[in-house]
Amino acid sequence: MAFASLVALAIAFSLLAHADNVIVPGASWTDTSGTVIQAHGAGILTVGKEFYWFGEDKADNSYLFSAVTCYKSTDLLTWERQNDALTPINGTMISTADIVERPKVLYNKKNAEYVMWFHSDNSDYSAAMVGVATAETPCGPYAYKASWKPLGADSRDMSIYQDDDENQTAYLLYASDNNVDFKISVLDSNYYNVTAMASEISNINLEAPGIVKKDSVYYLIASHTSGWAPNPNKWFSTTSLYSNWSTQNDIAPEATNTYFSQNAYDLPLGANAIYMGDRWRSDVLGSSTYIWLPLDWSTGAPQLVWADVWSMDLAAGTYTVATGTTYQAEDGVLSGGAEILNNTAYSGGEAVGWLGEGGTVTLNNVQGNGRGQWVSLYFANGDSTWRNTTVSVNGGPTVLVDQPNTGGGLVILSVPVKLNLRPGANSITFAVNQTTYAGDLDKIIVYNQG
Ligand SMILES: *[C@@H]1O[C@H](CO)[C@@H](O)[C@H](O)[C@H]1NC(C)=O
Ligand SMILES: *[C@@H]1O[C@H](CO)[C@@H](O)[C@H](O)[C@H]1NC(C)=O
Ligand SMILES: *[C@@H]1O[C@H](CO)[C@@H](O)[C@H](O)[C@H]1NC(C)=O
Ligand SMILES: *[C@@H]1O[C@H](CO)[C@@H](O)[C@H](O)[C@H]1NC(C)=O
Ligand SMILES: *[C@@H]1O[C@H](CO)[C@@H](O)[C@H](O)[C@H]1NC(C)=O
Ligand SMILES: *[C@@H]1O[C@H](CO)[C@@H](O)[C@H](O)[C@H]1NC(C)=O
Ligand SMILES: *[C@@H]1O[C@H](CO)[C@@H](O)[C@H](O)[C@H]1NC(C)=O
Repeated sequence: MAFASLVALAIAFSLLAHADNVIVPGASWTDTSGTVIQAHGAGILTVGKEFYWFGEDKADNSYLFSAVTCYKSTDLLTWERQNDALTPINGTMISTADIVERPKVLYNKKNAEYVMWFHSDNSDYSAAMVGVATAETPCGPYAYKASWKPLGADSRDMSIYQDDDENQTAYLLYASDNNVDFKISVLDSNYYNVTAMASEISNINLEAPGIVKKDSVYYLIASHTSGWAPNPNKWFSTTSLYSNWSTQNDIAPEATNTYFSQNAYDLPLGANAIYMGDRWRSDVLGSSTYIWLPLDWSTGAPQLVWADVWSMDLAAGTYTVATGTTYQAEDGVLSGGAEILNNTAYSGGEAVGWLGEGGTVTLNNVQGNGRGQWVSLYFANGDSTWRNTTVSVNGGPTVLVDQPNTGGGLVILSVPVKLNLRPGANSITFAVNQTTYAGDLDKIIVYNQG
């Protein structure tokens, strides 16, 4: 009886825990079993009403190949892990000592076959090849075919774009010639190889590409090359994949380094798209998070919309950014060495700095709903390192929240934390019992969603 009611409680709680269908960029995302999703360098395959998310499994924190995972969803929010789509084969270019990155899968209608393309490399990235594998079902497992240099030239970061013409012509988008030139080559009708180059953007140093087509214009989204560290990702456009690429333009305010992320895949959503990026954590790769944001064309050009918490209506092709309640850090109670910082870059012109090493700030009268809520911490680190901050609700145990390197200037980013606030007033203390310095705290936004 006690056991039965515990089970009932557990079910009720898990329903509640999944009640808010929201995307929270930068949070630790879990699958339907509660395990952290390992699907970095994402590729999405749409089959009818189902989505399949392929990516790199980095649970062991290594950059070497362990598996291409496959997750299934009908709403892009609830992901069920399937069998691994591709696993290592020792003695080939996809052994456990090699690199398999950025897996992308297309359906080939002519052969009724799923074809996976990926960046295939050796452990020092000197092979610079593409790899191909095929399967009869979306998650396979896939049978590895080969790795090679397309048209005899380097290929590192890559993606595949399938056009909407009658033959569903597909293209390989890839960083070539030691990452200096960016190339687009056309695939054969089986999607097994490339046959000819379509176009090239020379001397550009691009990687992490994806293409979205809007009103007959192709938009290439790509980052520049700075290793695992983020940079301002760009867009380029053309009316033909065979010529005439525009010059580069930012998809987000430059100083944010694409909100500390790198493009992996861009999925159309109505008149707009979903930017699916990686927030790489190079020293603990498996804790790298996913930054999915609306990529909005309402200005006529693709621009990322920062959203702490957001949702989409897949049928309508629309998205909604959640609004919450803002509490300014400078309105809190400071203790220890904590100090008010004044700068127009901060919301309200002020932030609280010197948190940690004894310095704390407590925000009082923070209204909660008792249901578990997302809270976004807006911060600036003031230097080029990662920091973290402890968070304690009503004097309870602390949780630690990572704060990515904001680049040294007064660049403000936000990171999410799920807090159990009681209904009515709460006190939230930052940096209590912390023996390192936390980021400077500008404000927090408390959302109703959890
Ligand atoms: C592949 O080689 C690695 C390293 O030698 C070894 O740990 C692993 O068990 C091998 N895997 C298979 C499937 O043989
Ligand atoms: C599609 O493929 C067929 C057969 O190869 C070819 O005749 C036709 O021109 C192609 N159509 C397009 C739009 O490329
Ligand atoms: C791809 O095509 C090229 C010719 O352009 C050929 O040399 C190469 O062997 C092909 N690769 C595979 C894996 O079929
Ligand atoms: C090249 O792009 C420009 C600007 O988008 C456009 O005006 C021009 O017609 C294009 N030329 C070709 C050959 O497609
Ligand atoms: C920031 O401004 C407040 C009031 O405007 C002032 O009391 C405080 O001394 C200033 N702090 C710094 C570090 O300049
Ligand atoms: C928290 O950040 C500090 C650097 O400010 C770092 O030394 C420490 O390892 C981090 N703690 C954790 C648990 O990541
Ligand atoms: C801070 O540390 C003290 C001493 O260990 C402990 O009593 C207190 O509970 C801690 N506070 C929080 C919020 O963890």
